[in-house]
Amino acid sequence: MELAGIKLNNPVMVASGTFGNGKEYADLIDIEKLGAIITKSISLNPREGNPPPRICETPSGMLNSIGLQNDGLKVFIDEHLKFLSKYKVPVIVNIAGETDQECVELAKALSKEPTVKGLELNISCPNVKQGGMQFGCSPTGTEEIVKAVRKATDLPLIVKLSPNVTDIVQIAEAAVSAGADALSLINTLLGMAVDVKERKFKIARKVGGLSGPAIRPVAVRMVYQVASAVKVPVIGIGGILTLDDALEFFMVGASAVQVGTGNFVDSKTALNIIEGLKSYDLNDIKGCLL
Ligand SMILES: Cc1cc2nc3c(=O)[nH]c(=O)nc-3n(C[C@H](O)[C@H](O)[C@H](O)COP(=O)(O)O)c2cc1C
Repeated sequence: MELAGIKLNNPVMVASGTFGNGKEYADLIDIEKLGAIITKSISLNPREGNPPPRICETPSGMLNSIGLQNDGLKVFIDEHLKFLSKYKVPVIVNIAGETDQECVELAKALSKEPTVKGLELNISCPNVKQGGMQFGCSPTGTEEIVKAVRKATDLPLIVKLSPNVTDIVQIAEAAVSAGADALSLINTLLGMAVDVKERKFKIARKVGGLSGPAIRPVAVRMVYQVASAVKVPVIGIGGILTLDDALEFFMVGASAVQVGTGNFVDSKTALNIIEGLKSYDLNDIKGCLL
């Protein structure tokens, strides 16, 4: 199938940050069966991430505060991309910069790599120029960064939206008017958890990103709202563990889905959903509730 100019093996991908850069899962599952691999967010320079503890379990979900730890662009291209180039699986690279310029440089460099079939722009990271506020929290911040990256690349551009906003439709429309070819949503929801015996926060940075089945109803609602409002394809993400979970997203208008936390529960989660989808005609299901 094709989505926004990217040829996918099928409509089920693995979400950024939950599948490493492919290597971690290549011995566990046949990664060529995946619709696509979205790699862990990369920045220009390596990032150490946040201090531990940075993950904890919560009811039907988990909180993480990894802090975009990654090896930086050079190691990503020389090692991780080289590894993935051996497999027949589309690679979509998730980029996260702290300034428009950093995202532009990442997009330019990755556009020269034949293994990269598309970019996913993570606009949930803090914009240092705007005092740490996330790019994706305001329509103007979203429009500026998407416009800049759009100019820097001819690769299909997916913009990944944060749910931590007042009106996701406004942000989605800003991303599309600035040139996004597709939208993916949602990233994690801001949350906190307290260890009541120890009287301290369970995550060193106090605040973390909530993911897993706990966020699925929020994600389904947002995908429904955005798919009703925009013409570009929408990729649904949030708490997908089973075929039925994925079907919920297709029915409210998603053209494809991504499995995130589900990969930690069972490395075969995405493959099981792909297998299950074979008995459905997606054209019949897609958007039937819009
Ligand atoms: C441990 C962890 C690390 C993540 N790292 C990233 C990341 O680097 N970039 C990004 O865009 N999203 C990242 N995410 C968000 C996921 O890609 C996904 O949007 C979110 O977890 C919701 O989907 P899920 O409920 O299926 O996990 C991360 C999520 C988790 C749990």
